[in-house]
Amino acid sequence: MNARQEIDTYLEGQADLETLRFITCGSVDDGKSTLIGRMLYESQMILDDQLSELEKTSSKIGTQGEQIDFALLVDGLSAEREQGITIDVAYRYFSTDQRKFIVADTPGHEQYTRNMVTGASTADAAVVLVDARKGVLEQTRRHSFIVSLLGIRHVVLAVNKMDLVGFDQAIFDDIVAEYQDLCRRFNFETVTPIPISALGGDNVVVRSASTPWYRGPTLLGFLGAVDTRKALVDHGFRMPVQWVNRPNLDFRGYAGTVLAGRIAPGDDIRILPSGETATVKGIVLGEDELEAAQADQAVTLTLDRDVDISRGDVLVAAKDPCETSDQFEARIVWMARDSGFHGRTYLMKIGTASVNAAISEIRHTYNINTFEEMMGRSLELNDISVVKLALDRPVAFEPYGDCPPMGAFVLIDRQNHQTVAAGMIDFALRRADNVHRQAVTVDKKARAKLNGHPGRVLWFTGLSGSGKSTIANALEKKLHAKGFRTYILDGDNVRLGLNRDLGFTDADRVENIRRIAEVAKLMVDAGLIVMTAFISPFRAERQMAREMFEEGEFVEIFVDTPLEVAEERDPKGLYRKARRGELPNFTGIDSPYEAPEAPEFRLETEGGQAEKLAEGLLSGLKLEIDD
Ligand code: ADX
Repeated sequence: MNARQEIDTYLEGQADLETLRFITCGSVDDGKSTLIGRMLYESQMILDDQLSELEKTSSKIGTQGEQIDFALLVDGLSAEREQGITIDVAYRYFSTDQRKFIVADTPGHEQYTRNMVTGASTADAAVVLVDARKGVLEQTRRHSFIVSLLGIRHVVLAVNKMDLVGFDQAIFDDIVAEYQDLCRRFNFETVTPIPISALGGDNVVVRSASTPWYRGPTLLGFLGAVDTRKALVDHGFRMPVQWVNRPNLDFRGYAGTVLAGRIAPGDDIRILPSGETATVKGIVLGEDELEAAQADQAVTLTLDRDVDISRGDVLVAAKDPCETSDQFEARIVWMARDSGFHGRTYLMKIGTASVNAAISEIRHTYNINTFEEMMGRSLELNDISVVKLALDRPVAFEPYGDCPPMGAFVLIDRQNHQTVAAGMIDFALRRADNVHRQAVTVDKKARAKLNGHPGRVLWFTGLSGSGKSTIANALEKKLHAKGFRTYILDGDNVRLGLNRDLGFTDADRVENIRRIAEVAKLMVDAGLIVMTAFISPFRAERQMAREMFEEGEFVEIFVDTPLEVAEERDPKGLYRKARRGELPNFTGIDSPYEAPEAPEFRLETEGGQAEKLAEGLLSGLKLEIDD
C-alpha cells in the first residue's frame, strides 16, 4: 500500500468510528499534561504522522460526509471562533480501534472557567484528576461543580500518582468515598473512579499489575465504551435549517446538520415554529441520494410540497416534535470582560436561529467555591448564573438536559459582536402563554386623529448638565403653544417616583432606561409627543428603545456638550462632588458615556441658546397638526 492508499483505508475505517469528546480538569500539578501525553503516546501507532497528512488530504479525498466529520473535530464552539474570541483551549485528537477521541486541554490559569466552559461545551465526558497524595481539593469541588452545571453526565475520577502512595487501596477508597459524597449534589449519570499513574501508564490503557484490588475499567477502556451518543440518535429527529438550497427552479432543498434522531424518505416532519407539516421526499449528500441520515450528519432534505421554510427554522419529527417558546430559564456562563445586565438585550444564537433576547431577570449567580446562590443585577467574567430570557420571537428548543444540541445557545453583544455568554436552556416559562395582548377598539391611529397629530418620542441624551432638560422644556413650551399634546419624562423627576429604587450603577442605569422606554412607548401609544431627558449613557439601551418604536416614531437628539463645558456649568454642584470623590459612578468622571453614532439631531450647546436650539428642532422635526 502506498501512503495515499493507507490514508484512504484509515479514513474508511475511522469514518465509522464514533467520536467521544472529553475534557480533563485539574492543574498541571495533578499530572494533566502527563496524562494527555500518555494517552496520545499510547495511541500513537494508530494516528501519529498520519494525522497531519490526513488534515492535508481530507479535503481532496472527502466527500462532504468525511469533511464534516473533520469540521466537527476541529471546532470547539464555532460561534466563539467566528466572533473572534481567543480562547486558550487546545484540542488534541487520537484514536483507538474503538473510537476517535477529542480531548479539550484547558490550561489551569486565570481564565480557567471560560476555557473550561469552551472545552466542555461539546464534551460528552469529563476526567477529573486528583493527586492521590492530596485527595479532593477545593478546585476538585469547583471543577466538578462547573462540569455539572455545564450538563456533562459522565465523570471519571482519575486518582493519579498512585505510584507515589504505593498503590494503596485504602487511600484510593477514602478519596473515592469523599468524592462520591460530593457528587450526591450533582446530577451525573455515571461517576467512575479509576486509580492510575499517568507517568507509569498504570490503568490508563493497560491494566496495572500494581492494583490487583481494582476491578474496574482502564481509563481509555472506559472512555472507549461509555455510551453517550446513542441517546441522541434514539431521540426524535431534529434539524435546524442552515440554508435553503435553490440552485434552479426544479430543486429546493433544506440544508443543515441533523442534531438528533434519524430521518428517511417518507417520514413526516413538522416545521417549527410555524407548525406546518410535510413529508421527506429525498435526502441528498453531495451527488448521492441517501436512504437515511442520523445525528451528526450534514445533509439536504427535499420535501413533497412547497412550504415556507427559512434559515433558523427547525425540522422535527411530526410524531415527536419539540416545543417552541419565547421565554426561558437558562444557566449561562458569562465569558466577557464587559458586564452583563438585567434588562439588556443581546443577540441569541440557538441552532441556526438568531433572535434578540433580553435578560429579563438574573435569578442568581453561583459561588463556585461554596455552591451558594448569590443575588445581583449584573453578570461578571466567569460567573455561572441562572437567568430568565425574553426573546422577541419564539424558537424551537429542548431543555439542555433532554437534548444538549437543542438547548445550547450563545449570547452576542449587539454593539461589538463579541460572544459574551454560553448558555443552556433549562425550561420554557409558561408565564408567556398566559399573558395575551388585549385588543382595544380605540387604537393609536384613532387617538392620533383626535389629537390632530401622531405620537413621537424625542429621546434627548447627553451628559449631566448638558442641557437636555432645559432644551426639552423650551421645546415643550413651543409645541404646547401650537396645540400639540406633550409630556416630559425627566431623569431627576422619574427617579423620585417610578425609579426611586434605582441608583447609578451600570446595572441600575440599564434598568432605568428600560423602564423609561416602556413608559415612553405607552405615551406614544396614547398619542403624545413625549420628550425623555435622561443621560441614557449606553448605546445598547438607546438602540433597544429605538427598536421598540415604529419607523420614524423614535427621534434621538444628542445634546453634545463637551465634558469640560458641562463640568464648568455644574448646575447642581454634582461634578464638584464627584471630583472630590463624594459621588461614585458619576457619568463622565468614573462612569462611561457612549456618544450616539447616528442620532437624528446633534445639538452643540456651547454658546447656543436653549431657545434657539428648540426653535431649530421644532422646524427640523416637521411636526404638523391636522386640521
Ligand atoms: S441615567 O444614566 O440613568 O440615564 P438619569 O438621567 O436618570 O441617568 O439621571 C441623571 C441625573 O441624576 C443627573 O442629571 C444628576 O442630576 C443625577 N445624578 C446623581 N448621581 C449621579 C451619578 N452618579 N451620575 C450621573 N448623574 C447623577
